[in-house]
Amino acid sequence: MKKRIILMTLLGLVSYKVGAQTKKSASLKQAYAKDFYIGTALNLQHIHDKDKKGINIIKKDFSSIVAENCMKSMFLQPVEGQFFFDDADKFVAFGQQNNMFTIGHTLVWHSQAPDWFFVDKDGKNVSADVLKQRMKNHIQTVVSRYKGKIKGWDVVNEAIMEDGSYRKSKFYEILGEEFIPLAFQWAHEADPDAELYYNDYNEWHSGKVQQITKMIKDFKSRGIRIDGIGMQAHVGLDYPSIEEYEKAIVAYANAGVKVSVTELEISALPSPHRISSNVADTQAYEKQLNPYNNGILPADVEAAWEKRYLDFFSLFLKHKDKVERVTLWGVTDGDSWKNDFPIVGRTDYPLLFDRKYKEKPIVKKLIHLAKEN
Ligand code: XIL
Repeated sequence: MKKRIILMTLLGLVSYKVGAQTKKSASLKQAYAKDFYIGTALNLQHIHDKDKKGINIIKKDFSSIVAENCMKSMFLQPVEGQFFFDDADKFVAFGQQNNMFTIGHTLVWHSQAPDWFFVDKDGKNVSADVLKQRMKNHIQTVVSRYKGKIKGWDVVNEAIMEDGSYRKSKFYEILGEEFIPLAFQWAHEADPDAELYYNDYNEWHSGKVQQITKMIKDFKSRGIRIDGIGMQAHVGLDYPSIEEYEKAIVAYANAGVKVSVTELEISALPSPHRISSNVADTQAYEKQLNPYNNGILPADVEAAWEKRYLDFFSLFLKHKDKVERVTLWGVTDGDSWKNDFPIVGRTDYPLLFDRKYKEKPIVKKLIHLAKEN
């Protein structure tokens, strides 16, 4: 009898431990596995395994990864014909080893492109033929290197403005709007199995929605592959409205593509006057725009911030048949580009883990939300 009691007590203890363990290990990626991928962006500290705490979070909570910077053209091909793949190779290997849905960001973008790309040796714009040849070479060298390993590419980033006009980038200036379908075709030739996305910010503005849906339909009528629209989602406490965002998701899905939320973070700071995520659109520092610089978010602001995350994730879950992936733009608040954008030197609180790598209470709430839906 005594033996029995001891055995029962031991069993009880073991099952209690297992229960606690299961509870402890509940992760975002597991909770959302039935719905969509949950992704994050890796910086060089992650890629080179210097940020161990960050890496542990990535492995536990995320099922998809994207490189925050190292696969942009200024880093991959700083000098014409001289490719630098060390960082990107490591990033892709990490994705493979950890069975992550690995995304390539980004092939054609006006920002973080090397200057040489658009000019000849006298600094004058190159001809359309030369630019096409440079684009094709860049796209095909990069995409074919990671054939079968990178599952989806942000082929073109940020080519359309809020009013629906084309951004007057060098690509557009020299090649006109045709640079977009050309890029998609070249990427497709290099890896016919890879998914191809058009990625942009503020994609809830009606002008942008109209122009992008028109472009998707045009691609489809011409037999040019496009699988998805990447909606960056560098959003704030008061912009955009959930309704605006929902309309855009539905419009893109109705045009026949999947939607991914590709660069999500919710800034807790006051919005500057112009809300753009173009990296060149910066503003001067003003003290009142950096109100929580002691590392603590006031409780009412934190509550509003949590509600925003829950509202957005409720929307994504409502449209899980259309949403392929939701990717956060970084792991901890300390990593976030928002501390320096659009104003340098602020203290922002936009991500799911704090500056000490501690999971914020919102994570459990998001896990709970997924279980309920
Ligand atoms: C940002 C990075 O987070 C920063 O580290 C870098 O200095 C600038 O670019 N849209 C995009 C991303 O598509 O690549 C940008 O990333 C943020 C806006």
